[in-house]
Amino acid sequence: MHIKTILTQTYHDQNPGTSGLRKKVSVFKQQHYLENFVQSIFDVLPNFQGKSLVIGGDGRYFNREAIQIIIKIAAANGFGELIIGQNGILSTPAASHIIRKYGAFGGLILSASHNPAGEHEDFGIKYNVNNGGPAPEKDTLAFFERSKVLENYKIAELPELNLDEIGTQEIDSLKITIIDSVNDYEELMQSLFDFDLIKQSIQNGFITLSFDAMSAVTGNYAKRILVEMLGAPESAVQNGTPLEDFGGHHPDPNLIHAHELADLMFSENAPTFGAASDGDGDRNMIMGKGIFVTPSDSLAILAANATLIPAYATGLKGVARSMPTSQAVDRVAANYKIPCYETPTGWKFFGNLLDADKITLCGEESFGTGSQHVREKDGLWAVLFWLNLIARRRQSVEEIVHEHWRKFGRDIYSRHDYEAVDSKVTNAIMVSLRKQITTLAGQVFGDFIVKYANEFCYHDSIDGSTSANQGFRIGFENGSRIVFRLSGTGTVGATLRIYIERFEPDVSKHHQDPQIALSELIELAEQFCKIKQLTGLAEPTVIT
Ligand code: G1P
Ligand code: ZN
Repeated sequence: MHIKTILTQTYHDQNPGTSGLRKKVSVFKQQHYLENFVQSIFDVLPNFQGKSLVIGGDGRYFNREAIQIIIKIAAANGFGELIIGQNGILSTPAASHIIRKYGAFGGLILSASHNPAGEHEDFGIKYNVNNGGPAPEKDTLAFFERSKVLENYKIAELPELNLDEIGTQEIDSLKITIIDSVNDYEELMQSLFDFDLIKQSIQNGFITLSFDAMSAVTGNYAKRILVEMLGAPESAVQNGTPLEDFGGHHPDPNLIHAHELADLMFSENAPTFGAASDGDGDRNMIMGKGIFVTPSDSLAILAANATLIPAYATGLKGVARSMPTSQAVDRVAANYKIPCYETPTGWKFFGNLLDADKITLCGEESFGTGSQHVREKDGLWAVLFWLNLIARRRQSVEEIVHEHWRKFGRDIYSRHDYEAVDSKVTNAIMVSLRKQITTLAGQVFGDFIVKYANEFCYHDSIDGSTSANQGFRIGFENGSRIVFRLSGTGTVGATLRIYIERFEPDVSKHHQDPQIALSELIELAEQFCKIKQLTGLAEPTVIT
């Protein structure tokens, strides 16, 4: 194998955000851009010579080209084996599982998650470590630092590899294995859930379902698992063929972007269960006939019912949620007397707690739920968990949710996003919030008395690291909260996220529209941040 060293120009914008480096395709296509970032990662990682690297992506535009480049750089840097998903496809949770199952050194996942795909849209790359989870912040910072001084990269002269045929080939001392993208993941799901019970409930018509794969990576996985294995009709999987541009969709499973599914679920002809996943398969949206389950509630309900599922029958070690996620799961944890951890936004913060066996389930308000089984959030896993639960409890989604609220109270919740705002404006808002936050405790706003107000700083109890500036939170005496933070995944301008929640113990008030139930807090949030006033925007871009 002939290896060349290429002199490169340095880029100064390769700072990985909440979940890897995400940029427009045109940025990634600049000369040496992807090569530089991959070389920067390899320069930082120690002792991988002869070891294996998993490679796969969500199939979006530029996926195949990027994989060909990565193969050559990984070969030149001395990896011993490359394990690649067929056609270059691996969902994020499947990639996490494959890293763990085959004891790989790590993996490169190519995805910009729920961001739109296509020549003029987004691409992304993320490095996952050998526990299958996203590289911790100290690594991603080191990648960035390295990229800012990188002068050259190594690349092997290799022919284009055929990514479509399963099998192994050897080039000198390098082994390249193309694997089926679904097999390992499907086996893992079978080991966790009661497939026979779910199948029975689908066959006898108790469960009818519609899953929207949004023309993204989960199409392959859903067809194999839901249709072939669990016996759902083919029509149960919508948009099941992965496309390079995701069919022009914004593959973010929420009521706005998955509105076809939402319309169906609120119609007369709704099936009993509806779900959607995102571009790379790690997010999930859960719906029942006439009901949407907020991700925060979903996490709490899964935690409360976990012992009904084979994999979790012996109980949960603990649970964790990201800081802006509602406190619904905290109530479940308190009830079962298990620990509940609060981490910053981003899946990477759950990794240490999972590895140390402190928690079994974890989740985020941003349609992410997961468990010990991998080190990423997992969309189809959440779908199967719900199907198993419905089959086991013989209740509808609505009955399960309402019963949960009756028992634990309802944490009424909403997130308001202001997207693609001028970053000067959002930076000014952050500066102003930082000033205000120190003076808010004890102040009274109508019925709301501020109990605490601070900027979230996380101390990782496992590795002792500290992550500061993780968002502003204002907590009130009655348990309500307002949280402000800037998105770390956007590629255009800045996105301000406002998270609002209020606890409602009174059963007679459980069935309110969250926007109405939260209206006072929504106004209060504007009073603190003035985003509408500063931007002239009348409404948030997205409400979930
Ligand atoms: C968003 C979500 C966050 C999630 C991340 C990756 O990040 O808010 O919960 O972990 O996407 O899927 P943000 O854009 O808010 O930084
Ligand atoms: Zn995703």
